[in-house]
Order: sequence, then structure tokens, then C-alpha cells
Amino acid sequence: MSKIGEGTNPQSQEKRDLLVLLERAQSRSGYLSKRTIAELAESLGLSIGEVYGVASFYSFLSIKPQGRNVIRICKSLPCYLKNAQTIIEGVRKEIGINPGETTADGRFSFELTNCIGACDKAPAMMVNDDVHGDLTPKKISKILQAYK
Ligand code: FES
Repeated sequence: MSKIGEGTNPQSQEKRDLLVLLERAQSRSGYLSKRTIAELAESLGLSIGEVYGVASFYSFLSIKPQGRNVIRICKSLPCYLKNAQTIIEGVRKEIGINPGETTADGRFSFELTNCIGACDKAPAMMVNDDVHGDLTPKKISKILQAYK
């Protein structure tokens, strides 16, 4: 069985580019549907399982429809040690859903993620492409009001 990025055949470059192709596909339709995954697998000569494995591994990729705004709270150790749990709880109270869910009105999806590169501002989260750091539960409401 081959692995992503392995080998010297002409498809190796396409395999290495899988993440880029998945990101592009997601930006077009908001998430990676079963059909999109199957089409990408066929075009790259990969199994559906290989493409699905990559699509479901990375927290910035989604295999289910997302809300208009995606909140991603860092759950890695530096943020955890700076009370990220209180931020997770604050978001949960503010929008009324748990991580892995989307609000009924489609305004927010809520995810936990690994480090987003803002450890110096822990605890941190992203809303869409915006990084918010030095979070406190009090800041959550004001931050989320900006996202309609
Ligand atoms: S550990 Fe949370 S942003 Fe890096």
C-alpha cells in the first residue's frame, strides 16, 4: 500500500499537492463532500480511504457542512495551561452548542483544534481566518458579535 507523498511515479507530485487541492475544493463549497473526495481520489489515482484520511485528519478541513463562521479554539498544551477550558466553556455558553456542532441558524460552527501558532497569546482561537489571543471569557461575547 502506498502512502501520501511516497514513491517516484508521475502521480507523486499530485499526492503531495493533495492538501492544496482539498483546501481549494473546500473553499469552493464550504466543506469536502463524499462526492468531492471520491472525485479527487479518482483524479489523483488514490483510494477514497487515503483522501478521506487526509480530509478528516486536519482540523482546517471539514467533511461536513460548516456554518458561515467557524470558531476554532486551540486545545494544545500551552493554551490548556492558560485556561483554554474556560474559553471553550465561554463560547459554548455564548452560542449554545458544543465543539463539533453548528448552530441551527448556520451562523457558527464550533471546533477544537491543535496549535494555531499563537502560543505567545494563549489562550487563543481563530474565527474564520482571524486569530484572537489573550482570551478571557469576558472577551468572547464582544469578539463573536462581529461575525454575522
Ligand atoms: S498552543 Fe494554543 S496557539 Fe499554540
